[in-house]
Amino acid sequence: MFTKDTLSGKTILITGGGSGLGLAMAKGFIANGANIAICGRTEEKLQKAIEEIKTEGGETSQAKYYTCDVRDHEAVKKMVAEIVTDFGSMEGLVNNAAGNFLSASEDLTPGGFKAIIDIVLHGSFNCTHAFGNYLIDNKKEGSILNIVTTYAESTGCAFVLPSACSKAGVLAMTRSLAFEWAEYGIRVNAIAPGPFPTKGAWSRLVPDKVIEKMFIKKNPMKRYGEHDELANLATFLMSDMAPYITGESVVIDGGERLQAGQFNFINDLMSRKKLKAAFKAMKPK
Ligand code: HXC
Ligand code: NAP
Repeated sequence: MFTKDTLSGKTILITGGGSGLGLAMAKGFIANGANIAICGRTEEKLQKAIEEIKTEGGETSQAKYYTCDVRDHEAVKKMVAEIVTDFGSMEGLVNNAAGNFLSASEDLTPGGFKAIIDIVLHGSFNCTHAFGNYLIDNKKEGSILNIVTTYAESTGCAFVLPSACSKAGVLAMTRSLAFEWAEYGIRVNAIAPGPFPTKGAWSRLVPDKVIEKMFIKKNPMKRYGEHDELANLATFLMSDMAPYITGESVVIDGGERLQAGQFNFINDLMSRKKLKAAFKAMKPK
């Protein structure tokens, strides 16, 4: 479906692109012809990531890293200006940088709540604001992709309150700006991933095998997502193959979010064969 030209002519910044899903998207984008900028707070991690990303790209693709904390509005503005100077232009932004941890909400400190809101909500605003203004000032079209979570949409989520609040805010920003900035030719979409094992997420959110097992059990596909699957979806949304899609949040979770269906639990009670026999026995003769 994609070729080495699918994203050619596009320079895309991926925040938090030094690890996990951000790195997977960076590798996917460069393989499909984009120039890649990644940012994060840890220079060593970014340096290593850039070496990996470059090996995925063609001869004309470029990749650079920027040490930047997305919570700092001035630093983000400076980074966007540097990217434009280094690459000549900027066409895409993926707000992927995030923070999260498990905590009973009554035990949260104001600092803990603020840390996550600052990274996820303020960080996404800072990058979107700087990039949006660059596009608008230069009469350029562009695309923004926000990485949210399935619990951002309607359920919220126990034990990750700051993340649930900030991701819901980012989703609201996605839809608000999709409408407001459509007249500038700026598309704003989101991806809501289900569970995709990464060191960053698993070290903070999946502390033991019991939780790991439950994640698989409650997923109707009985597996985790593969990083490439998410990178492919992101490539499509960032490409010119999706020019009429804006304000959309695409879930990629193997159906995990659908577990609330009232009779879905029956599937876990017995084998499909036994279930069918039980249903048959209930059918009027
Ligand atoms: C309770 C905690 C805490 C924890 C930190 N804090 N960790 N509170 N439980 N486990 C509190 C601190 O006490 C402090 O509050 C405040 O948070 C800031 O802590 P710092 O360590 O100074 O913050 P900072 O260095 O900015 O680090 C931010 C961080 C850290 C979010 C806490 O974990 C981080 O850098 N994370 C980045 C990567 C990440 O989280 N990736 C996972 C994304 S996965 P006080 O009040 O004491 O000052 C994801 C997926 C969701 O989002 C869905 C999965 C299926
Ligand atoms: P990750 O590897 O921990 O990625 C988070 C990245 O953000 C790190 O590279 C981190 O680098 C960077 N970052 C954190 N705070 C930052 C800041 N203030 N400024 C700049 N960069 C910062 O975790 P991941 O699992 O790949 O998560 C990526 C995205 O997917 C996140 O938005 C997450 O919420 C979302 N998501 C993940 C899953 C999953 O199952 N993995 C599920 C749903 C949603 P530094 O610490 O070096 O700055």
